[in-house]
Amino acid sequence: MSGGILKKIRSGAIASIIGIGAFSAVNIYYDKQKFYDQILIPTIQYLDPELSHKLTILWFKSGLVPKSQYKDTPILVNKIKHLSFRNPLGIAAGFDKNGEAVSSLENIGFGFVEVGTVTPKAQTGNDKPRVFRLLEDKAIINRYGLNNDGYEIVHTRLQKLKQNKSFNGILGINLGPNETSENTISDYVNGITVFSDVADYFAINVSCPNTSNLKNLKKKENLKNLLTAVISARNNLTIEPKPLIFLKLSPDLTKEEKNDIIKILKDKMCQIDGLIISNTTVERSLNLKSSSASEPGGLSGLPLKEHSTKLIAEMFKLTKGSIPIIGVGGVFTGQDAYEKVKAGASLIQLYTSFTFHGPPLIANIKKELQSLVNDDNYGNIAEAVGKDSKK
Ligand SMILES: Cc1cc2nc3c(=O)[nH]c(=O)nc-3n(C[C@H](O)[C@H](O)[C@H](O)COP(=O)(O)O)c2cc1C
Ligand SMILES: *[C@@H]1O[C@H](CO)[C@@H](O)[C@H](O)[C@H]1NC(C)=O
Ligand SMILES: *[C@@H]1O[C@H](CO)[C@@H](O)[C@H](O)[C@H]1NC(C)=O
Ligand SMILES: *[C@@H]1O[C@H](CO)[C@@H](O)[C@H](O)[C@H]1NC(C)=O
Ligand SMILES: *[C@@H]1O[C@H](CO)[C@@H](O)[C@H](O)[C@H]1NC(C)=O
Ligand SMILES: *[C@@H]1O[C@H](CO)[C@@H](O)[C@H](O)[C@H]1NC(C)=O
Ligand SMILES: *[C@@H]1O[C@H](CO)[C@@H](O)[C@H](O)[C@H]1NC(C)=O
Repeated sequence: MSGGILKKIRSGAIASIIGIGAFSAVNIYYDKQKFYDQILIPTIQYLDPELSHKLTILWFKSGLVPKSQYKDTPILVNKIKHLSFRNPLGIAAGFDKNGEAVSSLENIGFGFVEVGTVTPKAQTGNDKPRVFRLLEDKAIINRYGLNNDGYEIVHTRLQKLKQNKSFNGILGINLGPNETSENTISDYVNGITVFSDVADYFAINVSCPNTSNLKNLKKKENLKNLLTAVISARNNLTIEPKPLIFLKLSPDLTKEEKNDIIKILKDKMCQIDGLIISNTTVERSLNLKSSSASEPGGLSGLPLKEHSTKLIAEMFKLTKGSIPIIGVGGVFTGQDAYEKVKAGASLIQLYTSFTFHGPPLIANIKKELQSLVNDDNYGNIAEAVGKDSKK
């Protein structure tokens, strides 16, 4: 019974929150961290986390999100291959799974947007509840299970966006296989063909949980076959310039798995363009305080920060800096971002901190990052990449 009433109260609150939120943001508290931290976000945090995410997407979809006043500076421009990022801060996969908020994400200052994970067929994902806020830990646990609208709908949406020039930034598509798929490789290959006219890059996943040696060997072959097929599909595209291929890694890889990956990446047929480090962790021995800490699922946010930065540093060393890295995991400040840059990241992504602090966070991180790069007397952020590993 109380659930029903709560639901009604909540849905009544929906319209007013969007209305008040957008109106106040535009008219009164324009781009002010204080407004989000003290009023809007605490209000939204009374709602169920999945509902508040839905509301945020609706708000972003409405286009009523104030455009950031911060002007990107050349000092933070960085390149990967032919792609020039006007700033190094991107929104990580999972926030805009269906490509509905892309223009707004650009307007509030992200240098690039990664849509997805998208799978061939639309999926509803796991049973609810499937996402949990860990307020005291500045973290989230999610087990959404790849709910999304499927390749076709998301592609059509993004195609319109490009055609009507509502988005001119860099767009990544994070691809995944159907849950019931019997041939995951062909699902990825299809994705590359379907999204070839809108994607600047594709993100492909390797989520290698700990397994026996025998399984490991099989996994290694699997990864090699997957990468070979994906690179071949990309190379076969007639579009120019061709989209880049980034591989997203789990932070829970064993030493052996990391070495396997490094070996595979040396293969001529498996030459990817970048590594995204990292995805969420299933690790829980991180001194978590929140009551939801034992929920199964992927943990993101502050507790992941050091873990992810270490893996960035490790992969940067193992690849001798030959593969550009996109660093992600627990970035809340410019300092956090800079630590990842110095560990070896050319670009940064975030998700969890954005849900805690809202749009003003983006300009704040960029400002701080800019002054940190300046303080170290670098003319451009690219000069700072991997500096810690060269000490
Ligand atoms: C609610 C939620 C959903 C996510 N969904 C996806 C997803 O669909 N695909 C994916 O590759 N990563 C997904 N991620 C992982 C993020 O892209 C990112 O790698 C991770 O959250 C670490 O960054 P953060 O600490 O800044 O959040 C998700 C993260 C969260 C919090
Ligand atoms: C452009 O296309 C997107 C995606 O379909 C849509 O949301 C947006 O309203 C369109 N913008 C204009 C100016 O037509
Ligand atoms: C990631 O890869 C694993 C192992 O191949 C697979 O089970 C999982 O469905 C994939 N997830 C995504 C998002 O592609
Ligand atoms: C995934 O779904 C698509 C769309 O229904 C289908 O064409 C494809 O065969 C599926 N892939 C696999 C390997 O099951
Ligand atoms: C990220 O991690 C989640 C949970 O461990 C997993 O389901 C998903 O397949 C991973 N996605 C990528 C792109 O690695
Ligand atoms: C990974 O290790 C954990 C703990 O050692 C174990 O519970 C889990 O079943 C393992 N996962 C796989 C896929 O082997
Ligand atoms: C790419 O084209 C070659 C030559 O036509 C073909 O053999 C190969 O299967 C194609 N790759 C993919 C993944 O479709």
